[in-house]
Amino acid sequence: GAPVEVDISTLQPGEMRTVEWRGKPVWILRRTPEMLASLKKTDAEVADPNSKRNPDEFTPEYCVNEHRSRKPEYLIAIGICTHLGCSPSTKFVPGPQPSLPDNWTGGFLCPCHGSTFDLAGRVFKNKPAPDNLVVPRHMYLSDTKILIG
Ligand code: FES
Repeated sequence: GAPVEVDISTLQPGEMRTVEWRGKPVWILRRTPEMLASLKKTDAEVADPNSKRNPDEFTPEYCVNEHRSRKPEYLIAIGICTHLGCSPSTKFVPGPQPSLPDNWTGGFLCPCHGSTFDLAGRVFKNKPAPDNLVVPRHMYLSDTKILIG
């Protein structure tokens, strides 16, 4: 599939957009400072905090960092659960929600078997999904343009 160019100039803090690349949904989430701060809290609760598993396939080397991104503000991840391929819902608003822990700081919930992912797409411990959400290869063409693929 051809790379996809995305204009993120209108994406507001806290907002997420989904684009399609190779028939897959790619999420672009502009994280607020609060969302970024939540990653420190989930560090101890996720299964692979430093994206050490299959780093090439799941996390490009330039995204092996605490935010799993090139720029801390923007999460770019494929919205497909690494368990059996369902599409996690985008419940990234902090606060208690049905079927989520009370201390939920925001992230993604897979409706199929309950895997949860934090705002860096890192899977929480003791969930069926074996890996973090995949970060597709991408680059910034400018401050507001991303090339995915
Ligand atoms: Fe997501 Fe099973 S497909 S938890």
